Amino acid sequence: MVNFKEIGFVNTREMFKHAMENGYAIPAYNFNNMEQLQAIVMACVESHSPVILQVSKGARKYANQTLLRFMAEGAVEYMKELGGNIPMALHLDHGDSFEVAKSCIDMGFSSVMYDGSHHPYEENIKITKQVVEYAKQFDVTVEAELGVLAGIEEHVSSEVSHYTKPEEVEDFVNRSGCDSLAISIGTSHGAFKFKPGKPIPPLRFDILEEIQKRLPGFPIVLHGSSSVPQEYVKMVNEYGGNLAGAVGVPEDQLRKAAALNVCKINIDSDGRLVITAVIRKILAQTPGVFDPRKYLGPAREELKKLLIYKNKEVLGSADRY
Ligand code: G3H
Ligand code: 13P
Ligand code: ZN
Repeated sequence: MVNFKEIGFVNTREMFKHAMENGYAIPAYNFNNMEQLQAIVMACVESHSPVILQVSKGARKYANQTLLRFMAEGAVEYMKELGGNIPMALHLDHGDSFEVAKSCIDMGFSSVMYDGSHHPYEENIKITKQVVEYAKQFDVTVEAELGVLAGIEEHVSSEVSHYTKPEEVEDFVNRSGCDSLAISIGTSHGAFKFKPGKPIPPLRFDILEEIQKRLPGFPIVLHGSSSVPQEYVKMVNEYGGNLAGAVGVPEDQLRKAAALNVCKINIDSDGRLVITAVIRKILAQTPGVFDPRKYLGPAREELKKLLIYKNKEVLGSADRY
């Protein structure tokens, strides 16, 4: 059992307060391996951005939960070694049970999401509250979700979005005691968010604004916020892949949300896309390469560049620390 404070992480409370007061969003970047983690830390140190290191249940399974947790501890030391002094949180993404949230809290996570969005309303409140009650003993912050995003989540797959109902948010937040709320306003997980060749429907800012009115100053989270940069889609397709029709959330929509009450923006697919594009290109152009460092290194470098760009131009989180 270890508390996140001993490792050097922070919970999301102060992070969100600062983001809310200054009209930007904290980046929540997923990682599953060392190169992704290195790119995230380097990018956020270089751009002086706070960061939420995000770990899904799938990531824990892929990399081994103990190894991943110590990699995250290493990331705090690496950040300092790079001369950084940025707030870093370690967050469970889409926790699907009390048990997985507890396991992360006990291992030193500073923040956990309990995603009960697929449950009936009362059940969602009940389990979220159970997680909150456990988490608050250790000062760990809890993200909950209300409304269902289209696309595939770890344990839930939905063809269509069920937008968050603003009339439910006050009751949900008050009764569950959560610290932040993920909502559904038109984003979705993965690289295929909207119909190719059709105009991208704008996010439902009317819902976001109504929620802001009902929960003034309360941190809102946007999942499914990759923008799926077309230069990398093109690169994948050019070098033997097939991501035809992949399309993401326009950057200006995210910037607008970050200036409102959206304090945390989740990005995973874009990182996957960049890494795959660079690796495909290198392997296609240099068939003799067989040292993984020769393709993972450049992929890491390109990911770092993209994350710096996002912090600066999309989330507005750069130069805050
Ligand atoms: O929202 C889901 C995240 O992108 C994590 O994806 O479950 O494949 O690790 P994953
Ligand atoms: P993307 O698939 O749009 O990157 O969303 C990631 C996410 O929401 C992680 O929880
Ligand atoms: Zn998500």
